[in-house]
Amino acid sequence: MHPMLFYVLLAFGCGVCLCDYWKDREELIKEEESQILGSSIKLTHEEEVVNKRLIKIKSEEFNNGFDNVVNFLPSQHFFKTKAQVENSKVFKFIQKLPKGANLHVHDTALVSGKFLFNLTYRNNLYACFRNGSFQLKFFSKPESSCKWILLKKLRQISPSVDDFISSKFSLIVDNPERMYKSVDEVWTAFQDIFAVVSPLITYRPVFEDYFYRALEELYEDNVMYLEFRGLLPEVYELNGTVYDEVEVAGLYINVLKKFKEDHPDFVGAKFIYAPMRLADNATAWKYVETVKTLKEYYPDFLAGFDLVGEEKKGYPLKNFIEQIKSLEGIVKFFFHAGETKWYGTDIDENLVDAILLNTSRIGHGFALLKHPKLLQMVKEKDIAIEVNPISNQVLTYVKDLRNHPAIFYINQNYPVVICNDDPSFWGTKGLSYDWYMAFMGLSSKYTDLRFLKQLAINSLKYSMFSNDDERNFAFSLWEKKWKKFIMDFLQNQELQDYENIKVVLV
Ligand SMILES: *[C@@H]1O[C@H](CO)[C@@H](O)[C@H](O)[C@H]1NC(C)=O
Ligand SMILES: *[C@@H]1O[C@H](CO)[C@@H](O)[C@H](O)[C@H]1NC(C)=O
Ligand SMILES: *[C@@H]1O[C@H](CO)[C@@H](O)[C@H](O)[C@H]1NC(C)=O
Ligand SMILES: *[C@@H]1O[C@H](CO)[C@@H](O)[C@H](O)[C@H]1NC(C)=O
Ligand SMILES: *[C@@H]1O[C@H](CO)[C@@H](O)[C@H](O)[C@H]1NC(C)=O
Ligand SMILES: [Zn+2]
Repeated sequence: MHPMLFYVLLAFGCGVCLCDYWKDREELIKEEESQILGSSIKLTHEEEVVNKRLIKIKSEEFNNGFDNVVNFLPSQHFFKTKAQVENSKVFKFIQKLPKGANLHVHDTALVSGKFLFNLTYRNNLYACFRNGSFQLKFFSKPESSCKWILLKKLRQISPSVDDFISSKFSLIVDNPERMYKSVDEVWTAFQDIFAVVSPLITYRPVFEDYFYRALEELYEDNVMYLEFRGLLPEVYELNGTVYDEVEVAGLYINVLKKFKEDHPDFVGAKFIYAPMRLADNATAWKYVETVKTLKEYYPDFLAGFDLVGEEKKGYPLKNFIEQIKSLEGIVKFFFHAGETKWYGTDIDENLVDAILLNTSRIGHGFALLKHPKLLQMVKEKDIAIEVNPISNQVLTYVKDLRNHPAIFYINQNYPVVICNDDPSFWGTKGLSYDWYMAFMGLSSKYTDLRFLKQLAINSLKYSMFSNDDERNFAFSLWEKKWKKFIMDFLQNQELQDYENIKVVLV
């Protein structure tokens, strides 16, 4: 064919077929969008108004990042962007949102660094260097194995100790990418923090205030329910009394009771007994006994069982099948699994065991994307995936959150919940920081209020409420709070617009 003839034919046909093309294109995009988490939600008229505002601020922030990626906060290391996140309009919006539940966080990293640091001003707190590592502990009269010095005194002698102590409470450093090149390095730093924080927070009066504050920080972030994992460490008094696991669970319950009395619109908290996976068989059998005892004493407080610690350094689930199977039908499981980049390893295969063992939710499931059959089972069995965006970044599993595997869970509406894992360690509190990352970085530019609403609904849907009464109470309370949020927003909207006008005039 003569080339000219070809172009003539092309030009002639265009008007007709292109029209179909654009229609097909639009339909295809719509179809994909209709599968994203939250897309089936129909917004009310009032919600639509709020949504418009949200879309506006999200687009502004998104486009700002598109122009210069340094401004796209989910793409940068969190330690560098924390202050910018806190200034973000989208973040402030998310803070006010009733977010439902936090379903993945650990006992030793529940509160903000500020609160932890404040605890060091309590009476009877001593410091010492033991074998080169810094320790803090409460005593009426310090024991002699270490040269304990009253922290109050140490502060007078050496005021710089405060900066030193602060640095021991979190992973935050100026140059995270240089300091933490691999997961192993971060885990080592993790353990150092744990060694300092643990004796500080396991002094009974502090332990109680710490847990109260943990609930309060969630409450202030508009989170109304918690399921947290813990080791039930020994808690001590100055007179030498120590409390065992069951007694420590009792301490939590008393604090929770007090907190609920003070905050009747807080739904509650439950506990996942999650001891270290670096354990021999005998220890694992002890875990089994402990979790059974907890279930017996506190059936409403105990949500279930998990194993924690670096998946690489500890044993895989397949080593404990016998122990875990013996708990079948007695307690529910919430296994950490697949928190790795290593495809085909034991850590990766923890996903297989978690699913075969009927885990109720999966902690992280970072590697799940690589397992199509497991993904299918997760959907069929309706197993929630607990995604912790900032944790995954700080622990070096993913550098730029736009590459996070959870994007694939979210864009196919897998049962995803967004949680915070160890907020103390990266200087956050509540859920808003992680939700911000999910909204801006783990979902499309076009996700909107429906996405956030679905995250809140998922968080309650996959909570382990004891019974229908508790579940209904939680959902109806959340709905009430949601409506109030929408109404308050609409009422303040005028004011905000007015402020914007003022800014323009100035
Ligand atoms: C620190 O402690 C003081 C009193 O001990 C209290 O007034 C203040 O609110 C605390 N700050 C934080 C951030 O907890
Ligand atoms: C210091 O470390 C050594 C060797 O690791 C150990 O044997 C010793 O018990 C430690 N001392 C204290 C006080 O923890
Ligand atoms: C130790 O202190 C705790 C808390 O003040 C108290 O309840 C307990 O009775 C004391 N035990 C002894 C043996 O003095
Ligand atoms: C526990 O026992 C099982 C089977 O008896 C064995 O395969 C496994 O290696 C043991 N685990 C540990 C940590 O010793
Ligand atoms: C998991 O569920 C299946 C099907 O309900 C059941 O056959 C199996 O025994 C369960 N396994 C455990 C460990 O709960
Ligand atoms: Zn975790």
